[in-house]
Amino acid sequence: VKDSNSFPETFLWGGALAANQVEGGYLEGGKGLTTVDLMPTGEERQTISKGYISNFTPKQDVYYPSHEAVDFYHRFEEDIALFAEMGFKSLRLSIAWSRIFPTGEEDQPNEVGLQFYDQVFDELLKYNIEPVVTLCHFDVPVFLVEKYGSWKSREMVNLFEKYAKTVFERYKNKVKYWMTFNEINMLLHRPYMGAGITLVGENQINQVLYQAAHHQLVASALAVKAGHEINPDFKIGCMLAAGATYPYTSNPDDYWKAMEKDRESFFFIDVQSRGEYPGYARRFFRDEGLDILMEPGDVDILKEGTVDYIGFSYYSSRCTSTDPEVLKGAISGNIFGSIKNPYTKASQWGWTIDPKGLRITANQLWDRYQKPLFVVENGLGAVDVPEEDGTINDDYRIEYLREHFIEMKEAIQDGVDIIGYTSWGPIDIVSASTGEMKKRYGYIYVDRDNAGNGTMERRRKKSFYWYKDVIRSNGEKL
Ligand code: BG6
Repeated sequence: VKDSNSFPETFLWGGALAANQVEGGYLEGGKGLTTVDLMPTGEERQTISKGYISNFTPKQDVYYPSHEAVDFYHRFEEDIALFAEMGFKSLRLSIAWSRIFPTGEEDQPNEVGLQFYDQVFDELLKYNIEPVVTLCHFDVPVFLVEKYGSWKSREMVNLFEKYAKTVFERYKNKVKYWMTFNEINMLLHRPYMGAGITLVGENQINQVLYQAAHHQLVASALAVKAGHEINPDFKIGCMLAAGATYPYTSNPDDYWKAMEKDRESFFFIDVQSRGEYPGYARRFFRDEGLDILMEPGDVDILKEGTVDYIGFSYYSSRCTSTDPEVLKGAISGNIFGSIKNPYTKASQWGWTIDPKGLRITANQLWDRYQKPLFVVENGLGAVDVPEEDGTINDDYRIEYLREHFIEMKEAIQDGVDIIGYTSWGPIDIVSASTGEMKKRYGYIYVDRDNAGNGTMERRRKKSFYWYKDVIRSNGEKL
């Protein structure tokens, strides 16, 4: 255990992006369609995300924000130069599976797609920025969704393994930090957004979801195994949408429910980090009458493919209750069905703001896994209104981040081994849940609106200079 009062010298300060939210160029360079390419904005996006519309044909006259996103595909040099100006030590980004295997089933990878990421990684390395690469961030090739029903099918396991091996081989001398599935637990909450799973016509929802989860867990373990064989220096992590669940009262029933809620998420990481299904999950399958098909070798694969570090996103803590009166109308705006916590504030989108929850969550994860932690997403989605002179004074964002950094520092002093922090959307990008542009997280403003109008010009916000100072002082100057 490190004994330290501040951030380690090697701390990986940076930012985090996802291919589908930033790149655009959705059919360029031979890329195939991915699930997100068929997700518009607004209400329809929410329903699709939850798996209740299966819509595999792009419609005319509908605006799909991923098609151009913020054009990182053509502007990555300019954007990476800005990240370098802030002093980034790392950049988390994802590879679009369908740039490498446009349908997911080709024998040979798409060389143009591979070259694109070569260029991106070279550009990062030029500035000594460590790439941190997610293999799958909410984008499944549409072809696999149509042919197999995505992760409902075991077929996905080997297709994913082939994809993982291809990029591990190709980038083994450029990329050291990897993650398999972004927010793997999102599969239970937004099955289509998280894993390309539609629930239309399904009666046994939990059977479908946990079978798909098993496939992802095996695929993740196979990728980790393959990665370690290809380069033993690889650090391959999992990625959890984290956030501790608080009981609404001291009623033991509330406490137990909060624990169950946390376990719903820990379930994935317990398997990915400890290499076996926890007892509470086996009981849940029994109680629910679920019959999860496993192949004979799966137990060994899970054991042998455990992760090196725990990557997690933290935006909010959660809160739950067993009291129907409390539950009534008390849902806050986030994805996890949390109720409103009277002790915390909320963002413009109703997401709980709870800086101390980051310390609590980090301690919880450290106590549970005793593996290095990497905060790979955190930040405030807010509306930015440029001043008349064009400047953007996002003090609210600075405030949010500062409070979270203070708590992250506390966690480090608690003895938690945190190796880095990449804030979400260091440049404004398309929102995953709503498809909006106006839900901005960036230090860099992008001139683009919800309907796709704007020049795409990049501009430094006030937070840009603030974060630069944070990194330069290694978290001493907050
Ligand atoms: C996480 C995702 O759920 O939260 C990101 O990994 C997403 O892809 C981020 O963008 C913030 O959510 P949103 O909906 O505000 O973009």
